[in-house]
Amino acid sequence: MIKLPGLIDPHVHVREPGATHKEDWDTATQAALAGGFTTILAMPNTTPPIFDEKTLDLGLASAKEKARCDYAQFLGAGPDNASLAAELAPRAAGLKMYLDSTFGELRLDDMSLWMAHFASFPKNLPIVLHSESRTMAAGILFAAIYDRPVHIAHISLKEEVLLIKAAKEKGIKVTCEVAPHHLLLTAPSSVPPASGGETLIPPPFTGGARGGRLEVRPRLATQADVDALWANLDVIDCIATDHAPHTLEEKDSENPPPGFPGLETALPLLLTAVDEGRLRIDDLIEKMHTNPKRIFNLPDQPETWIEVDEDARYEIRSAEQFTKCGWTPFEGWQVKGRVTRVLLRGKEVVKDGKILAKKGFGSNIRE
Ligand code: NCD
Ligand code: ZN
Repeated sequence: MIKLPGLIDPHVHVREPGATHKEDWDTATQAALAGGFTTILAMPNTTPPIFDEKTLDLGLASAKEKARCDYAQFLGAGPDNASLAAELAPRAAGLKMYLDSTFGELRLDDMSLWMAHFASFPKNLPIVLHSESRTMAAGILFAAIYDRPVHIAHISLKEEVLLIKAAKEKGIKVTCEVAPHHLLLTAPSSVPPASGGETLIPPPFTGGARGGRLEVRPRLATQADVDALWANLDVIDCIATDHAPHTLEEKDSENPPPGFPGLETALPLLLTAVDEGRLRIDDLIEKMHTNPKRIFNLPDQPETWIEVDEDARYEIRSAEQFTKCGWTPFEGWQVKGRVTRVLLRGKEVVKDGKILAKKGFGSNIRE
């Protein structure tokens, strides 16, 4: 048995309000606890999006009633809520800005709309950017101009990790996260990097998923991108799931929405990487506890830890998950390492696959 600190997931789509057929505060926080997360930070691209006092109150009311682990709620940056968001900041996990293709209504294309947010959002919390490739470079330039922290969500490309590395070396206040799926899966059309004389070209590795199920933003990338992420893990501050549940029916439809569930698979997949010698357990703790705690200014959770049977081998099965969405792109993967027990603020909240925390046990860490 090994003991780890309660994990923190800074990127979870809870889906409440507005899409509780995909997930809600009850099922998302059960999935979180089952996966070893004792704190989650909830994204604001709900229906309605969370961007003012009324919608923040609405989201937090459901969380207060149903959450089984601790949490905070992000505010979404809209075209004209910069001063409101700055006022509400003490009650929020941070500010999320959608600058690229995404699911939902919160998207800011015009850079002049970014300025007010960069100028007014308090600097003790990061602005989290959904920004890819050159948009990410623009976001980092904004961090430099306004001399304030930004956190780049779900990086997936070699060019992104290399630019973040260079920006950090210049002292720009940028941090970033990667999702397990961008470390472990490649796009179906992915071609491996040209390597001298290599004739054996392995097939792209998309796990158990196909077709619409593979839709995710950012898109799965190439093997060269995946290799660059692993080679530059020291540049990557956090591993965040970007748990983005959609039902199987939706994923297999004509117009599949992008997103993968991830709360229950992240830790076993990463413990397996530790077992294979691809990741050190200290890095896992740093990227899933220490760094997110520091970056998002989160309080201590006294008497909180998770217990893991690091020798348990099993197959990932969606039928055993607590998420409502009913599937995982990692169906059938063999993993090693199982969460056996979770303690949160002195209370046993998970024991041998059962969630013992009651609805409402979770507390808002910004309250
Ligand atoms: C997210 C979702 O479904 O809310 N989807 C995704 O593919 N990651 C939206 C997002 O994070 O862009
Ligand atoms: Zn997301």
